[in-house]
Amino acid sequence: MKTEIFKPSKKNIKLAASELAKGNLIAFPTETVYGLGANAFNKEAVEKIFIAKNRPQDNPLIVHIHKNYDLLQIVKNIPETAKNLIKHFTPSPLTIIMQSNNKVCPEVSCGLKTLAVRIPSHKVAQKLLKACNLPIAAPSANTSKHLSPTTAKAVKDDLNKKLEIILNGGKCKIGLESTVIDVTKKVPVILRLGAITKEMIKEKTGITVNIANQTNVKIPPSPGMKYKHYSPKCEVFISEENKEQQLNLMYDNLIKDGYNPVIVCLNSLLPLFKNKNKISLGKSEKEAANKLYDTLRMAENKYNYILLCPVKSTGIGKAVNNRISKMSSK
Ligand code: TXA
Ligand code: MG
Repeated sequence: MKTEIFKPSKKNIKLAASELAKGNLIAFPTETVYGLGANAFNKEAVEKIFIAKNRPQDNPLIVHIHKNYDLLQIVKNIPETAKNLIKHFTPSPLTIIMQSNNKVCPEVSCGLKTLAVRIPSHKVAQKLLKACNLPIAAPSANTSKHLSPTTAKAVKDDLNKKLEIILNGGKCKIGLESTVIDVTKKVPVILRLGAITKEMIKEKTGITVNIANQTNVKIPPSPGMKYKHYSPKCEVFISEENKEQQLNLMYDNLIKDGYNPVIVCLNSLLPLFKNKNKISLGKSEKEAANKLYDTLRMAENKYNYILLCPVKSTGIGKAVNNRISKMSSK
């Protein structure tokens, strides 16, 4: 199979939609990261996703729909909380977990009774979803456990020859995966942190939500939480907050041991690491979210040890630090 990167013209979006209808895989841009899409009604198509990504069989997929798609075609009911969230936050990087009506094939949710649904805001994603008028199951379009792709090239680097078409929508604006919120519980729970924060939800809708414990969970509320994730191919060390100075010593020891290390941090920390290999994640937490995966993909190809500094845990910074904390096996 040849994987082609296409510009998202009307004709190519139509072509990608027809591939989806035929049961084939295509990748498309969203405002968070690129997704690897398949028709959620088609068991064989959904199974292709797990094979292409080498994804664990018990990690369920998010279904993507266009703005005007009738949600009741795929969920049992729409709880008031979900209605409120949809009213204020869609289309957007918010994924809502509801009860499935079992119309999409069970492989999407890996046998769970619930279904994760997202209405992405990216124009190309909306056009594609409208053109096929199907619920599209789409995980991030990377090899399982690797960094999520925020460019068409990153998709091709990971999944070349495993899908038909990559629609090129340029670089993803947000750069981190969507916030996942479960509204099937009495008190809604954020299972995965993202650009839509607990504070934003409270402010816009008045709804108070919990945030699931992101570490040390014996029975994870979301299967995806138990896996090592988002990892570069080389060794990674995560600095503790405010202990970045110690990286200088570690860096020197790595050089002595024959490594080729690099420090990745916000602009403000760069002066701490004079005469060392370093890459900036930009000036703000928002910029760091946008650059994180792309920067690390570049770093893993050039260096063999990444020393990574967390950012301030405010706003999207919380999600950035959450992804960073999952990158190291140490
Ligand atoms: O931004 C995003 O959400 C991107 C783009 C492509 O939309 N997609 C994405 O999908 O990040 P993926 O498969 O990489 O992550 C889906 C996450 C996993 O952690 C999975 O465990 C969780 O959502 N999830 C999906 N369905 C679930 C369900 N029914 N119950 C609990 N967690 C669920
Ligand atoms: Mg993923």
